Amino acid sequence: MQSMILDALRHERWVSGEKLGEKLHISRTAVWKHINELRKNGYQIDSSPRLGYSLIEPPDLLLPDEISNGLETRVIGKNILHYRVITSTQDAAAEFAKNGIAEGTVVIAETQTNGRGRKGRKWISPSKGGVYLSIVLRPNVTPLQTIQMPLIAGVAVLKAIHKASHVAPKIKWPNDIIIGGKKVAGILTEMNCEIDLVNYIILGIGVNVNTPKSVMEKVPGGIANSLANECGGRVSRVKLVQYLLNEFENIYTEFRANGFRSIREEWKVSSNTIGSWVKISDGLDKEGIEGQAFDIDEDGFLLVRKKSGDLMKVISGEVLLN
Ligand code: BTN
Repeated sequence: MQSMILDALRHERWVSGEKLGEKLHISRTAVWKHINELRKNGYQIDSSPRLGYSLIEPPDLLLPDEISNGLETRVIGKNILHYRVITSTQDAAAEFAKNGIAEGTVVIAETQTNGRGRKGRKWISPSKGGVYLSIVLRPNVTPLQTIQMPLIAGVAVLKAIHKASHVAPKIKWPNDIIIGGKKVAGILTEMNCEIDLVNYIILGIGVNVNTPKSVMEKVPGGIANSLANECGGRVSRVKLVQYLLNEFENIYTEFRANGFRSIREEWKVSSNTIGSWVKISDGLDKEGIEGQAFDIDEDGFLLVRKKSGDLMKVISGEVLLN
């Protein structure tokens, strides 16, 4: 009901309580109750005895109604579950996925108390600063093919950030999104699988959007920053999420139809890793691997030529660009 009221208010400057009531087949008192609910959720709505109601400003929240109004997807984000506070959207999405929730469901939160990144790192998730979301995916792929999932998601995140902020980021293998040498977004892929079949994937995406510099400086190593700090102005989180879900659906559809091939080219063009001298720590080889990254192969592995001339295929690890 509230979605329908919002829809009407978005299309006209003023809408009378009577007209809203007629449209929704409810009384004017019921309309007024819904308007008050919307106000409680942070919508600024003006009222005038003569003119009715007018939407002044939506709240700066990632509410499903706001995101849906501008979404062009068929599957991704058709079901959005929004939380003001959550431990981690990954955990909630995994629980829903386990219980059979539909592919494309998005769990999104304003803040996470226990947001996590790759390799067990903490993902700082301050309220209203960023975008923290997890998408439930059920592709028909083998566990090995999921290596490509964070790579394709990286391309979608990169395109969305470019559209929302007009800044062109780079991707550091496998999927750190970098602007001005600092990480502004990260992707975490977790899955539930059997030996030859993936049951579901939880694709977690975190973007530091308007997080103040003072907060970003708390990330160890001074390696992270937010979009607003890098592009010099606030970025609409709602628009960013819409772009992100639209771009991800396009790329995911292409991936399911034709595999990784065409996306691999896009990834390479957007990467700052190919052609660079890199040092990769993979947790196994204490020394790490040093050499020049010269390509990614069809499976998404990074190909590195060591000083000795030996070629290495790297499946995962942390890249340090020299
Ligand atoms: C990385 O280490 O680069 C990956 C960061 C992923 C963070 C996101 S925020 C939404 C989702 N929930 C989490 O707890 N983590 C991911």
